[in-house]
Amino acid sequence: MKILSIVGARPNFMKIAPFAHAIRKCPSVKHVIVHTGQHYDQKMSTSFFEDLDIPMPDINLEVGSGSHAQQTAEIMKRFEPVLLEHKPDVLVVVGDVNSTIACSLVAAKLSIPIAHIEAGLRSFDKDMPEEINRILTDRITDVFFTTCIEANAHLVAEGAAKNRIFFVGNVMIDTLMHNLKRANKSQILSSLHLQPKGYALVTLHRPSNVDDKHNLTNILNAINVIQEKIPVVFPIHPRTKKNFELFGLTSMVQGMKGLKLVEPLGYLDFLCLTNGAKMVVTDSGGIQEETTVLKIPCLTVRENTERPITIKEGTNVLVGVKTKKIVSEAQKVLSGKAKKGRIPKYWDGKASERILNILVSLHNKGKLRVK
Ligand code: UD1
Repeated sequence: MKILSIVGARPNFMKIAPFAHAIRKCPSVKHVIVHTGQHYDQKMSTSFFEDLDIPMPDINLEVGSGSHAQQTAEIMKRFEPVLLEHKPDVLVVVGDVNSTIACSLVAAKLSIPIAHIEAGLRSFDKDMPEEINRILTDRITDVFFTTCIEANAHLVAEGAAKNRIFFVGNVMIDTLMHNLKRANKSQILSSLHLQPKGYALVTLHRPSNVDDKHNLTNILNAINVIQEKIPVVFPIHPRTKKNFELFGLTSMVQGMKGLKLVEPLGYLDFLCLTNGAKMVVTDSGGIQEETTVLKIPCLTVRENTERPITIKEGTNVLVGVKTKKIVSEAQKVLSGKAKKGRIPKYWDGKASERILNILVSLHNKGKLRVK
């Protein structure tokens, strides 16, 4: 059996790593990894292959940055000849980035079965580029792998056949569980002069937050208050860094004495920082899940989430983008009133093995593709 997997942007690497490791143990399956090159900086891409021991991509399409249309189109143009050459039994895509939909669309037109890992998540917010990518990818997916039962319900409501949907758990959590011990050996806390549970961790990169001067300023005003109470460490995404400069916010950020701005971090250093944090303030999707598993309080600076299970069962709280609300929820955590949570079903480190078993079994029965 031949499986071709796609990675493109930072969160994809953590999701493909455990799947690649599961395939390694299965000699009858050949694995081809294609990197679209959506993310390309060492700190946004290569460092994850090294940290997570992912086989280097067999092919890199090197598309780089661009508008959504440019990036999506360029990936499609460059991916089609690769897919025609390799003719895999199944294309595996993860998550919701532009690489996910672009490669799925190429495969669908070439009648190659598509398996989508992390299918069925919905924020019901079409202003989010990822929501468009999720809906469209799932419309042409043949085999759906979900992280929660709510995702199964979304897929069924949109017309997917129940027998094509498999609730397998969360591959990102496979990676977390396999690497937590190694991550805890990272020296990142001492190198940043931080004490365990003595700092807050911030990440921001959603266009709705960081491409909008008003929202970005509101969030920074909240960070300003928080950093007076507890040190704040903020690994900065390239999109966010650019916008600090564009909106003239750099000097405001530099004026915050309790704020440590650092470059994007590798997987192990970042996981170590998350695990040691008093709280995390973020607009990332994956970090909402990681904090739930680590039982670290998470304040999500968004109005909605495609991962409501992290609110229902985990430590996540949606705090929106208004300064006052972010500060008051942070204050609750600092005064010992953080939300408690539990780990969702099947977020147990074994999702990738389940996925591979299902794919091999469907392949053996000739049932990978929906006609
Ligand atoms: C993308 C994903 C988003 C994911 C995020 C994780 C889409 C629509 N968005 O958003 O879902 O949560 O990745 O980081 O696919 N840049 C660099 N170096 C890089 C990559 C990007 O400097 O290695 C800069 C470029 O200026 C680029 C900007 O960051 O224009 C944004 O990159 P892009 O891939 O378009 O989107 P992200 O915001 O990273």
